[in-house]
Amino acid sequence: MEVVSIVNFGIVGCGFIAGKHVKALEQIANARLVAACDSDQKRLISFTEKYDISTYENYDEFLKDPEVEAVIICTPSGSHAAMGEKAAHAGKHILMEKPFVLDLNQGKNLVELCKSKEVKLGVVHPNRVKPVVRALSEAVNGGWFGKITHTSAVLRWNRTPEYFNSTAWRGTRELDGGILFNQAIHNIDLLNWLLGPVDEVFAYGATQLHNIEYEDVCVCTLKLKSGALGMIEAAITLYPENLEESIAVFGSQGTAVLGGKSISRIQEWKFSKFSEAEAKIQAEQLNNESDPAGHKEVIEDFIKAITRNQEPLVSGEEAMKVLYLIKAIYQSIKTNQPVKITTDWRVNI
Ligand SMILES: NC(=O)c1ccc[n+]([C@@H]2O[C@H](COP(=O)([O-])OP(=O)(O)OC[C@H]3O[C@@H](n4cnc5c(N)ncnc54)[C@H](O)[C@@H]3O)[C@@H](O)[C@H]2O)c1
Repeated sequence: MEVVSIVNFGIVGCGFIAGKHVKALEQIANARLVAACDSDQKRLISFTEKYDISTYENYDEFLKDPEVEAVIICTPSGSHAAMGEKAAHAGKHILMEKPFVLDLNQGKNLVELCKSKEVKLGVVHPNRVKPVVRALSEAVNGGWFGKITHTSAVLRWNRTPEYFNSTAWRGTRELDGGILFNQAIHNIDLLNWLLGPVDEVFAYGATQLHNIEYEDVCVCTLKLKSGALGMIEAAITLYPENLEESIAVFGSQGTAVLGGKSISRIQEWKFSKFSEAEAKIQAEQLNNESDPAGHKEVIEDFIKAITRNQEPLVSGEEAMKVLYLIKAIYQSIKTNQPVKITTDWRVNI
């Protein structure tokens, strides 16, 4: 019988997403929240008042807490690399909110540092654990599509001026990164994980409606190493509200479209290996499964990585792959040229 050891977590950055982590930790028997840190005293107090835990306004002091074994980093994206580096030096395991980091070299350095310090490094990509996505993964890896001809990842969402004005970091290149790092990364990650690697990209971007530092609409064509073609569309300008986040895969023997406002439903599910009735039943069963709280599954997996000394579902190294793709898309937008992607993330584009 496996000995169940408890992992003590600390959270840094007590904002919107930290709330999801706390809820998830509460539901996991072998996880314990022991400390929280936020440089904003008001946020720290309102976030932690219900809990009997240690609180810190200073990150360096928080990292000195010997009770904290693993740190969940929920601060603005542009601070992830520096926060992670300090945590690794303090010997803490790191579960990083997405995007892992915004800079390739910083990402590579953090992956290497965590290896050398022998701490686990996981990145939060909860869409990968959704039942409909797991089913799509089985279909792709099981060869159900026959020859895959093309694929698309579409994000059509609405972000209001109030959203961007809510905190100073949103809408900035330095701390937020851009629409592909902030909103579209989950979908781009799925496309890359399921159907990649991507060989070449060509993209356009424009700032259509928002008064922000980055593009609010991007369209991108892809050549996949497999020979299939692909398309990414990302927009945060949709009137009047979020419309869809979807991924579609088409092949000689299959068609699948997963959609809804955030990839939660099967819209098309047709494969030559199943009768129409069988495929319909599969799709209905999957659509009836309620979405698991993705953060809970991600943390449970991370605990296993620590206690069993194995790699997390999405390691830092794995998270570098989507960063590479996003960086290539931004480079294409900037240079107005197609950009090739090396499969080796250790080589810079
Ligand atoms: N996985 C997901 O689905 C998902 C969803 C939303 C956000 N995120 C990611 O989570 C991160 C945070 O997003 P959010 O929406 O919760 O932001 P937020 O602004 O609501 O919260 C960030 C918190 O970090 C604190 N902070 C900033 N700098 C700090 C520092 N140096 N030390 C301590 N605290 C500091 C701020 O005071 C704030 O309370 C971002 O990287 C974002 O991309 C992930």
